[in-house]
Amino acid sequence: MKRIICLLLVAAMAALVLTSCGESGSSSATETKQTLVMATNAEFPPYEYKEGDKIVGIDAEVMQAIADDLGMELVIEDMEFDSIIPAVKSGKADVGAAGMTVREDRLENVDFTDTYAKAKQVVIVKEDSSIASLDDLTGKTIGVQQGTTGDIYAADEYGDENVERYSKGYEAVQALSQGKIDAVIIDNEPAKVFVSQTPGLKMLDEPFADEEYAICVQKGNTELLNKLNASLQKLKDNGKFQEIIDKYITAD
Ligand code: ARG
Repeated sequence: MKRIICLLLVAAMAALVLTSCGESGSSSATETKQTLVMATNAEFPPYEYKEGDKIVGIDAEVMQAIADDLGMELVIEDMEFDSIIPAVKSGKADVGAAGMTVREDRLENVDFTDTYAKAKQVVIVKEDSSIASLDDLTGKTIGVQQGTTGDIYAADEYGDENVERYSKGYEAVQALSQGKIDAVIIDNEPAKVFVSQTPGLKMLDEPFADEEYAICVQKGNTELLNKLNASLQKLKDNGKFQEIIDKYITAD
């Protein structure tokens, strides 16, 4: 009997210790801000790129403004572009913000917020290239960033065997400049930046496709989706959104 009482006492003490630990744990959690983990691929100026160790650009600043509005702490995780949707899908990241084009097939894996930018896929060639139109791309080697819409369109239109995939858009542009490939298909704003940084290249006037960018969240996470849309609308209404765009894109 004594032994049983003793055991019960020990168990009760253990329970006390455990619950008090739990309490102190949760009280400290309420003091720190909830994090908002953003998955991106910081190889895409002016939307996201590295300045030293820091990730800057339109998406980084818009997400920071959204996080501020929601009272959350933004944490940016840099990864390969084609890892972003899996990261959001698995819950490793809360949002994907990466100049990401809304596409039907992506909607099978994630949900998208309202769109926040219009974009085009454009073709970059060498200044002295014989490629003057989209038709001229037939049979040519086209460089793309792996997993992007440029990759999908190039493979669909000109055949998978003619597509050279790079982990970064800039690597494709360098390969073009070195004469290893004939053209690059990429989004218009990064195209402008890369062409301006690389002598001897130009963009074709004829755009390849029109697209719209949005932020993605885990499928079915309507709570977060609604919050993001409300914040995004606020930033559009109060001028903060345009301020960020103007900082990174000069009207042409
Ligand atoms: N808009 C294109 C897409 O959604 C390219 C996006 C690439 N973004 C990046 N951060 N590298 O596929």
